[in-house]
Amino acid sequence: MTKMARPLASLLLFAALGCSVVAAQAAALRPATTSLSDPKLDEKVEALLRQMTRKEKVGQLVQYSAGQATGPGTGRTDYSDMIQKSEIGALFNVTDPREVNAYQRMAVEQSRLHVPILFGLDVIHGFRTEFPVPLGLASTWDPLLVEKAARVAAQEASANGIRWTFSPMVDIARDPRWGRMTEGAGEDPFLGSAMAVAYVRGYQGQRLDAPDSIAACVKHFVGYGAAEGGRDYNSTEISEHTLREIYLPPFHAAVDAGAASVMSAFNSLNGIPATANPFTLKQILRKEWGFRGITDGDWESVLELIPHGVARNGSEAARKAFLAGLDMDMVSSLYHDHLEQIVASGQASEGELDDAVRHVLRVKFALGLFERPYVDEAAAGNAQRRPENLALAREAAERSFVLLQNQNTTSGKPLLPISAEIGTIALLGPLGDDSAMMLGSWGGLGSREEVKSLRQALASRLGQDRVSQARGVGITDGTDEEIASAVASAAKADLIILALGENASDMTGEAASRADLGLPGKQQQLLEAVVHTGKPVVLVLFSGRPLTLPWAFDHVPAVLAAWFPGSEAGPALVRTLFGDVNPSGRLVVSWPRSVGQIPLYYNALNTGRPAGNADLKRPPANGEEKYLSRYVDELNSPQFVFGYGGSYTTFTYGPAQSSAKQLSASALNPALRKGALAAPVFTIGAEVANTGSRAGEEVVQLYLRLEGTSTAQPVRALKGFRRISLVSGKKERVEFSLPPEAFAIWNDHNAFAVEPAKATLWVGSDSSHGSEIALEIVP
Ligand code: NOJ
Repeated sequence: MTKMARPLASLLLFAALGCSVVAAQAAALRPATTSLSDPKLDEKVEALLRQMTRKEKVGQLVQYSAGQATGPGTGRTDYSDMIQKSEIGALFNVTDPREVNAYQRMAVEQSRLHVPILFGLDVIHGFRTEFPVPLGLASTWDPLLVEKAARVAAQEASANGIRWTFSPMVDIARDPRWGRMTEGAGEDPFLGSAMAVAYVRGYQGQRLDAPDSIAACVKHFVGYGAAEGGRDYNSTEISEHTLREIYLPPFHAAVDAGAASVMSAFNSLNGIPATANPFTLKQILRKEWGFRGITDGDWESVLELIPHGVARNGSEAARKAFLAGLDMDMVSSLYHDHLEQIVASGQASEGELDDAVRHVLRVKFALGLFERPYVDEAAAGNAQRRPENLALAREAAERSFVLLQNQNTTSGKPLLPISAEIGTIALLGPLGDDSAMMLGSWGGLGSREEVKSLRQALASRLGQDRVSQARGVGITDGTDEEIASAVASAAKADLIILALGENASDMTGEAASRADLGLPGKQQQLLEAVVHTGKPVVLVLFSGRPLTLPWAFDHVPAVLAAWFPGSEAGPALVRTLFGDVNPSGRLVVSWPRSVGQIPLYYNALNTGRPAGNADLKRPPANGEEKYLSRYVDELNSPQFVFGYGGSYTTFTYGPAQSSAKQLSASALNPALRKGALAAPVFTIGAEVANTGSRAGEEVVQLYLRLEGTSTAQPVRALKGFRRISLVSGKKERVEFSLPPEAFAIWNDHNAFAVEPAKATLWVGSDSSHGSEIALEIVP
């Protein structure tokens, strides 16, 4: 029988293409977060709205950064005069609780209607306790842990007066050139939906009006991750089919989970900038999904309608964004400058203005800001960096690491874990002792002084005299002499740990797209020189994306993807390298061999000329090998597949068993209307055994393929996952129950439906293996 490791594990047993199922299952288990549909909120909103002048209404839709800028902008940081005149609804980047209260006093005590300000910040993977970057958090495949991390972030941020975070970023990313891949949950809509729900629930808690809850802002709506060429801010072209099946589900799941706000994206989508796109902002978000919260622009995205080419001046930009359904203008000041006149001249109606203001006031009331506008300045620090917060950060980091490679050494045993009897270790490379980098992109208020580096943690484990450390080269600089001296110290050590990778702030995150995904600077040279010493080498990679390192994977026995692990980087790494914990992270993005393969994702269509998984000759050996969908000079397959991750133990899967050999589309389709709450219609399971010599955690994954449908479907699509913990020699039967939505596709009539199909399902350890079972979906 299935054993449920945790109550929330059942969340993972269900799956659906629309993915709102993830939210619904979670909601069924615990009370939903404060609902924006609560009629009491509406009464309060209407009572206030009736008293407001048009100018005051517009003020609620105006948002500025009043602290350190996170983009180009007005340059202005003090908005006191405007606050007193009710011209501002929200501020962000103010992080000092005294400053928050000072601004809030102006709004509450000096403005005519005393409407509090909503204070926001990019709290992306922690506030002062920093968790791994979101790509790392997703690599845990542990939504409950991510929910807990988001809860800690909410508690720490709200203690400083921040009640709104611009997170989670739920953009599907299929292109690691895009620097912002680090901020999301990778390439899969099902996993992305589970993570989206986890963040929303963590931030918003069980009640949004609890003082330690913060409103989530799901971003960037929509298609931002599909930037052409992986170049940030670039245009996107996404068919409705792909939009519905791949890019929208995580947003839908987050909205169903109660997310209080959604941020529009910078990019244009099929020619229309997302900030002025009524199809996505109104039709899908409001009409189809019933969203009642705030739609916020991104930094100056209203102003950017001019360079996009859809507006000739500020007034036209404001009008287009507003009429498309964008409630709030972040930074550009164009609503402030023009919206009143736009309404006065009849280009937008008073009713439309009222609606936008309703969305903002509803969130402010839901947060309890009117009852409790101020933060307790003296108590702020108490909530932050508590021992339990740091313990959670360490656990999250440990679960985020993905063991990419761990080959046997001459001793016949894998290089990792490092034996306790090891003599001396040389820690080389620019990231071995760089605490600041461990914070990743959007490090919140985390400070480098509060991060434990790999060097510090190694030295405290082994003692200073057994660890030598040298940077060898910088991330982008360095000299041959430095490399030579690092090699000399390597030659004296029994084991070398190479800490290589990217600069978290310059090469990952916003405005940090890369065309070359190799090791920057002279790091490759350092790597090769160190490996040539013949000493055993463990490569720890710090990056916000997969890096294309074919040489390393051919020559380095042990490679660990560490992402950017956050405050507890060092201890988490040392515990993993020495085997106190067994690595259990799994890739949430396909790891390419070369940049030319990108975009590369596991849930691709088969094409009419699939090349299969065969290791084809390059160049092709004959006509049969040539006329396939392939490269003549590269494999199709990634270096490591989606879902992959090594362990210090081994897991073996028994045959898959299912509850039925046949399902009927016409029986399932009516149930689709019940959405996620429809009863499960199919169960599938397999026995998983720990056949190695150590305890370990496995992420059991369920994939589906449909053939014969009206629109071509991916070769595999994730439909469920579950993390299990098994001691050596033990086994467990893992079962997944699927609702009708799991079999639904976006079809040739532009609707979600279940269609007759040949279905194949796999239960396995990644997207390329698994115990297979067939299912027929009859009419
Ligand atoms: C621009 C980024 O795209 C967005 O993600 C962020 O929340 C805003 N700046 C605010 O800093």
